[in-house]
Amino acid sequence: MRVTVTGCGYLGLVHAATLAAMGNHVIAMDVDEGKITRIREGRLPFREPGLADLVKTHAPSNLHFTSSPEVLGKFGGTVHFLCVGTPVKDGDVDLSYLFNAAEALAPHLSAGDLVVNKSTVPPGTGDKLLAFLRGVDVASNPEFLREGTAVQDSLYPERLVFGVNNDKARYALREVYRTLICSGTKEVTTTVVNAELSKLAANAFLATKISFINGVAQYGKAVGADVGKVSEILGLDSRIGQWGLRPGLGFGGGCLPKDLAMLTNDAADHDVYPLVDFLDSVSEINDRRRSQVRDIAADVLGDLSGKRVSVLGAAFKPGTDDTRESPGLLLAGMLTEEGAHVIVHDPSATGVKFMQVVAIEHAVRDADLVIVATEHEEYVKLDPSLFPPGRVIDARYCLDRGKWEAAGWEYHGI
Ligand code: UDX
Repeated sequence: MRVTVTGCGYLGLVHAATLAAMGNHVIAMDVDEGKITRIREGRLPFREPGLADLVKTHAPSNLHFTSSPEVLGKFGGTVHFLCVGTPVKDGDVDLSYLFNAAEALAPHLSAGDLVVNKSTVPPGTGDKLLAFLRGVDVASNPEFLREGTAVQDSLYPERLVFGVNNDKARYALREVYRTLICSGTKEVTTTVVNAELSKLAANAFLATKISFINGVAQYGKAVGADVGKVSEILGLDSRIGQWGLRPGLGFGGGCLPKDLAMLTNDAADHDVYPLVDFLDSVSEINDRRRSQVRDIAADVLGDLSGKRVSVLGAAFKPGTDDTRESPGLLLAGMLTEEGAHVIVHDPSATGVKFMQVVAIEHAVRDADLVIVATEHEEYVKLDPSLFPPGRVIDARYCLDRGKWEAAGWEYHGI
């Protein structure tokens, strides 16, 4: 199939490359000319395992990049994916990028084309796009990929969700994903609004699981229980499942916090207050994880003012350099507000606030307190006996407590 992708951010670039890998002819467009030039030169705007190789393999044979809507229009695509940001600002979702992208695409659409929204949006947005674009059909095809495994998640998804208004749209999407469907990927065809809500609900549910275990972690500390063991026992129940039950500093990143806020606000707009209250609790537990760790740090050090604290981990999760809504950086901000001198270390994310380029040895050796905020392998494997004994807060529950204590360190769990 000849397909176009508007937006070369995280979602769009991965989507374009994996659609090409599935055998489609793809053109991807972004208004940022510099970004397109860099992608063409093989310099991708973010790190994602396997993506650079995929782009190299398929560009320029069946994967093209442009910053011009006219070039995109001449490509002759019949299915057009919208993969642009839908940020949440001051509680409201900003759909301007989506509608600007639709506006730029509109003059190049032919009757019978299908516009497919892949960005996360409040339910009902597909209908608004349909009214806005007039004359072409609109579908929703939400994306469930995770950073760090985005290519694998796209090439081997657990399900494909097609939110469509008619069979023609369904068949067009089946054609785009033909190789996945032929190899047995489960396809769920439904209405546009169901597809839109399924994405928001999925991310809110994942966020809920994480906040649940973090709430239990706090309770476990109060009653003297080991939340790691409790989590292991819960996860062995196939109805519960293991994912999301790792207690820690809470969830961050470009998706879960934003999508949770989007669902909460939209539910409030529809007066669904029990759900709003529920989701507010999920956010509150998440936010409190950082202040709880700050308070533990203050207890451990007596007073934070003037103390040297090393926060290990600026990426919002291991295996990525993405620092959006980074729990470690949010914690670093709170510690700084209390007067601590904070150094943030990260093996891959660099050049962000609070960060000085220091070796891990320096970050661990020269601190009054070390806080592990991201469970990067480098931290999990640290040998504490190589350093003079100090104090550590294991805010990701990822260190071998026995090893650290045996090396003379004062270990604090959360
Ligand atoms: C998430 C969803 O998983 C994915 O389906 C969606 O498409 C995009 O949003 P991602 O943002 O890549 O993916 O990260 P994810 O692996 O879900 O982790 C999110 C956050 O939760 C991270 O900060 C992570 O550290 C935290 N987390 C995750 C926990 O604190 N505990 C866990 O058990 C799992």
